[in-house]
Amino acid sequence: MYFREVDYQIDEKAFQEEVTYILSHRFIPRDWLQISLQTINEDGKPEDDWDVTIGRLSKHDHKEPDVRYLLWDTPAINEMISRFGFYRCRLVKSPPKTSLTWHYDLSDRFHVPLVTNLGCNMVIEDQCFHLPAFKLFWTNTKRMHTSYNVSSEWRTHILGCVTPAFSSLYDSSLP
Ligand SMILES: [Fe+2]
Repeated sequence: MYFREVDYQIDEKAFQEEVTYILSHRFIPRDWLQISLQTINEDGKPEDDWDVTIGRLSKHDHKEPDVRYLLWDTPAINEMISRFGFYRCRLVKSPPKTSLTWHYDLSDRFHVPLVTNLGCNMVIEDQCFHLPAFKLFWTNTKRMHTSYNVSSEWRTHILGCVTPAFSSLYDSSLP
């Protein structure tokens, strides 16, 4: 299986309130698609670093594991990030009727959907999976994959990179 649910209880109300708090900041543009939840600077500030790790890695000087400092005053989301050692975490919006290019990532990822519906799926190799809201998933994104939102609604989720040690708990192909 390229998708595995992680045994972790998400506080749905707290996550919703914290995302609302992030989006209440006036420096976040109305048409945001990604917002960094972590940064490369120990004393980074949200207004400076909210987009520090957005887009293709090749346009940045830093490497993914460098993006490890918490950026926002969001205790519930931060607790999850810290507990599992996640890095390069982002809040991401997927527009209706869109998909990603078929690709692979340098690390496996976790996902926590916040707003989703049955028209939103992730495809890894030959497996297609709908990730329900407010659950934490490990996904094997070092393999070829994409995700699509073929609904007429926006999808919102939190994602980030996981460590090899975390992956080894879920990746049944590893020795
Ligand atoms: Fe990916």
